[in-house]
Amino acid sequence: MNPTTMRVGSQSRRSFLQKSSAIAVAAPFISVSRTSFAANSETLKVGLVGCGGRGTGAASQAMGADRNVVMHAMGDIFDDRLQSSLKQIRERHAERTMVTPETSFVGFDAIDKVIASGVDVVLLATPPGFRPYHIRKCIEAGKHVFTEKPMAVDAPGVRMVMEAAAAAKQKKLALTSGFCWRYNPAEREVMKRIHDGQIGALNTVQTTFNTGFLWVNPRKPEWNDMTYQLRNWYYFTWLSGDHLVEQGVHSIDKMQWAMRDETPVKCVGHGGRQVRTGPEFGHIFDHFSLVYEYASGARGYHFSRQQSNTASENGDHIAGTKGTATIKAFGPVGITGENSWNLRKRTDADMYQIEHNEMMASIRRGEPINDGQWMAQSVMVAIMGRMAAYTGREVTWDEAINSKENLAKWVTNQENVEGDPRFDWNMPLRVPPVAIPGQTPLV
Ligand SMILES: NC(=O)c1ccc[n+]([C@@H]2O[C@H](COP(=O)([O-])OP(=O)(O)OC[C@H]3O[C@@H](n4cnc5c(N)ncnc54)[C@H](O)[C@@H]3O)[C@@H](O)[C@H]2O)c1
Repeated sequence: MNPTTMRVGSQSRRSFLQKSSAIAVAAPFISVSRTSFAANSETLKVGLVGCGGRGTGAASQAMGADRNVVMHAMGDIFDDRLQSSLKQIRERHAERTMVTPETSFVGFDAIDKVIASGVDVVLLATPPGFRPYHIRKCIEAGKHVFTEKPMAVDAPGVRMVMEAAAAAKQKKLALTSGFCWRYNPAEREVMKRIHDGQIGALNTVQTTFNTGFLWVNPRKPEWNDMTYQLRNWYYFTWLSGDHLVEQGVHSIDKMQWAMRDETPVKCVGHGGRQVRTGPEFGHIFDHFSLVYEYASGARGYHFSRQQSNTASENGDHIAGTKGTATIKAFGPVGITGENSWNLRKRTDADMYQIEHNEMMASIRRGEPINDGQWMAQSVMVAIMGRMAAYTGREVTWDEAINSKENLAKWVTNQENVEGDPRFDWNMPLRVPPVAIPGQTPLV
């Protein structure tokens, strides 16, 4: 049953939530200590699937959104990850952490068990390779969803997310995305100005996300392939999508936001691995440079690099016929040109908290947020860039979105199996060769 229409006493839960929502709506950006949800005694039970760094943060933020949100269930593939996350969540919100051994689930079916445990909202923060399957299961079961980015690693996954997003809309379920910049006041302000025409018609959007190396978990003798890859999921495309899709996608999402979510017509890309070449880095690239072309003639440029001891940058330049907008992540934001403007000071508001404040308020209001279509498109634009860089070809949007390449099925030797791929601990896994432009085919 859709939880928004469940009966609560003699009153439908939905009408209850709608009546109590006015207070929640009035102050969606204010932290729980200053927000009055006193009139709202309806509890929203949350389940977390993927209890790593981000999932643990998202759980705290979900509880921080509204004092009648409780943690009810948790699921992970590894017990140590679940226990350390639960400990941190308890330390932050002891009184509202209701998770027990009966609502703690470990294994590939943890998602099913969390869903079946009686939760209203599921937070999805596993490696993204599992995400489309998890999103679909949640929406089919009538659960509201907060999903971390990226929402897929290949085109079949993106299409699945788009279908789930349409179903969520029909069922009035929230499908809120972890593309957190879209929830940040400074980025919202500059994007509003861009969309209001203050820099004129856009001709160039340049986004850059250059960082250093990330974590590696050295292989232990007792680990089989599945354990090793899951402990090092970042370096395998079936789990992460490559760093472009995993992290650069934040910047590509801002490009898409500036472009009003118009999808690019085609993309050409360069990339490779120059520094992160050892086997501990799996088969992903360490740099990408991409050029997207839009129907209007505008071009989008994206640069991502993960090489230590190189210049870092996380910023965007958006040029139009009347001016240029500049966004430095966590730094200055402004416009130069006919309508010059500078944001004096970023607020202290935490975009990660705002996502959850707005999601919970939207659920209580009976008007759940659905970020589904644009978030799936942004992920597809990143996947399209990976396709272009891996193959060395010009890749059109139509080729990209219609691609049949299912990375999880290829890795698990299930290419000819209908339906979702099956996962178990002992299955042999294939590792794709590092892509070589001009040789790697477009599938
Ligand atoms: N929006 C942001 O700014 C932001 C920041 C950090 C991470 N993220 C995203 O959050 C996701 C997780 O990143 P992280 O840094 O927390 O990684 P992490 O490795 O710390 O956490 C992932 C967790 O998922 C678990 N897991 C793996 N497969 C699973 C499965 N099939 N079922 C249940 N649990 C499973 C892992 O054991 C691990 O505990 C990624 O998609 C990442 O891009 C987003």
